[in-house]
Amino acid sequence: MEHHTFLGKSTLCVPRMGVGAMTWGDAKGLARLHPAKTAYGGAHGFDEEKRALELSIAAGVNLFDTAAMYSNGAAELRLGELARGKAVVIATKFPGGFSMKEEDLPKQLEASLKRLGRASIELYQHHYPMRNISIPKLMEQLANVVEAGKVKAVGVSNYSAEQMREAHAALAKLGIPLASNQVEYSLLNRAPEVNGVLDACRELGITLIAQTPLAGGKLTGKYSAQNRPGGFFRRILPQYNRKALEEMQPVIQLLREIGERYSKTPSQVALRWLIENPLVLPIPGAKNGKQAVDNAQALTFSLTAEQVEMLNQATMRWRV
Ligand SMILES: NC(=O)c1ccc[n+]([C@@H]2O[C@H](COP(=O)([O-])OP(=O)(O)OC[C@H]3O[C@@H](n4cnc5c(N)ncnc54)[C@H](OP(=O)(O)O)[C@@H]3O)[C@@H](O)[C@H]2O)c1
Repeated sequence: MEHHTFLGKSTLCVPRMGVGAMTWGDAKGLARLHPAKTAYGGAHGFDEEKRALELSIAAGVNLFDTAAMYSNGAAELRLGELARGKAVVIATKFPGGFSMKEEDLPKQLEASLKRLGRASIELYQHHYPMRNISIPKLMEQLANVVEAGKVKAVGVSNYSAEQMREAHAALAKLGIPLASNQVEYSLLNRAPEVNGVLDACRELGITLIAQTPLAGGKLTGKYSAQNRPGGFFRRILPQYNRKALEEMQPVIQLLREIGERYSKTPSQVALRWLIENPLVLPIPGAKNGKQAVDNAQALTFSLTAEQVEMLNQATMRWRV
């Protein structure tokens, strides 16, 4: 399978996977309590983030996902610092706070560009739908920044199928494609297959960017009921409790069995399962160079249709 693709119907060329840089950066003050840091714990410091970026690029994975909101801008700042002068594809998200309106977008974009140290970015995504933001009006703002040459492609995140259709239609009137919708999707969260999002992506030619594609680290196989993951969210959320970690062990076992045939790890097989669908582009989070290199290896092999189906069957209970 080709290692690059266009994002949706846009002219933005991207690798078939990216790197989630949510946990990166030096958060200061209250930003240290942001979920980007507290959910799983932060990345392993400047040197490891640098290695993660450089080794990913060397492996052909030069798409990096961040957001204005992550650690109150600290994640963007770090990505900008590390990526300076390098051929990267930067995806970031609007807005940086909860009380923003659609007319705040130009200023918010300028602030992101400043933190990233760039005159333009490749993908600008609306982080999640909010009651105080009108989707058609926001799409007008996004179209304006595309026309101004500051953004190459437009995406959304955490949009339902209905909201995607609304955004797609509003942008289509302005002659701009909706390139992507970033939602949670993994073997342990197959909701996009049943809530209409994947169908809408197929019908409208939109890429599904799979956030949390390793189920927050569970699909690496390193966690179990006896060895629970760290980080505040992973200690309190039910999907990381002992029962959940026990229930997923047959999936890890199958990932191991399939992986053995290719000398691949459970995480590489879990990411490959996503990549086998040409509509889907996973962005696994990497806290250090080793994780980034491991994850990039998902581009180096293919699963058979039979193996994809075995994984489908083994994870039916997570297809809800
Ligand atoms: N749009 C949104 O609302 C939204 C929400 C969430 C995430 N995202 C995006 O999706 C990206 C990825 O999601 P995520 O970080 O939530 O979850 P994930 O990719 O499923 O899991 C990432 C975690 O798994 C562990 N890990 C990753 N690769 C590994 C490897 N090769 N070997 C061993 N452990 C490994 C690391 O944590 P440990 O080492 O601590 O286990 C890492 O932080 C984020 O960075 C962000 O860009 C977006």
